[in-house]
Amino acid sequence: MVFSGMQPSGDLHLGNLLGALRPWVLDQDRYRNYFCVVDLHALSGPHDPRELAEKTRQVAALYIAAGIDPGVSTLLVQSHVPQHTELAWLLSCVTPVGWLERMTQFKDKSRRRGAERISSGLLTYPVLMAADILLYRANFVPVGEDQRQHLELTRSVARRFNRLYGEVLVLPRPRIGRRGGGARVMALDDPESKMSKSAQGEAGRIGLLDPPERVRAKVMRAKTDSGRAVDLESAGAGVANLLDIYRALTGCSREQLARQFQGQGYGHLKAAVAEVTVATLLPLQARYRELLGDRGELDRVLAEGDRRAQQVAAANLSEIRAAVGLLRPPATS
Ligand code: TYM
Repeated sequence: MVFSGMQPSGDLHLGNLLGALRPWVLDQDRYRNYFCVVDLHALSGPHDPRELAEKTRQVAALYIAAGIDPGVSTLLVQSHVPQHTELAWLLSCVTPVGWLERMTQFKDKSRRRGAERISSGLLTYPVLMAADILLYRANFVPVGEDQRQHLELTRSVARRFNRLYGEVLVLPRPRIGRRGGGARVMALDDPESKMSKSAQGEAGRIGLLDPPERVRAKVMRAKTDSGRAVDLESAGAGVANLLDIYRALTGCSREQLARQFQGQGYGHLKAAVAEVTVATLLPLQARYRELLGDRGELDRVLAEGDRRAQQVAAANLSEIRAAVGLLRPPATS
């Protein structure tokens, strides 16, 4: 069983595709999968209420455009399955505040914005994420490198819960690609930081919906170092990032990478990265536009996924409720 998700905040970018979406698609036929649009998580930071619903649809459409088959995998919207928030409460009651305060993403964001300006939702965010995963008894969670700590927390919470209430929760394992395989795509304009939806300015990220000219312009302006020719052994962060992107997009071996780029100028590498990126994004964008052209069909697909997810979520949650000792609610007819 596989569970993973993305927030419908900002625009999805190449990091989201290489770190998560592509690995989801590649392993799709091997497992039972739940792929979720985590709209409740998007509320933990600033968001525009006029845009959230449409962004939620757009992320679902991007999942399908990238190759998720709703006939094979269950596609759901987090807020449509109320068991996520109920389990989050049960888990928060066994999660020490200290564990949450130690989360790097929380520390970074709270340092940047100040304690008075961040929500308590940002602190408890990883508990909701743990609930997403544990609710479905997921064995594997395919994510990018930046989610590793949240997955460790999920395991710790599950372990503690099981110690208190019996073996009801399944400990999930993260599935994170190897470094250089797209698990951590760095910002083009600042290769020491990861490519992110929330970073100021667009120059650092390639949006999945960026038109070809914009992709080319961003890649050609990507920050490299003061050298001129590619050296795989001693490449600085910027060049290494471009090589990683090329390798992740083409699936080529290190030997092929060396044959094609070793000793070549940076311009040659950038042009090649731009072209494989454009070639990957064009068909995805065409499919995306098609899907958004029929919102009724998209909503129908999501409603079917929500329904399937709710069945599993309700059955699992009722066992978890019983384990903590809640009175069983009267059966409704
Ligand atoms: P989010 O929405 O920030 O990112 C979605 C996925 O994309 C990966 N990712 C990257 N991978 C490689 N390079 C990058 N630069 C990069 N940036 C993002 C992320 O690792 C993630 O896999 N907390 C999660 C959402 C979530 C979730 C869950 C994930 C909520 N509940 C349950 C898995 C299971 C998040 O904010 O991802």
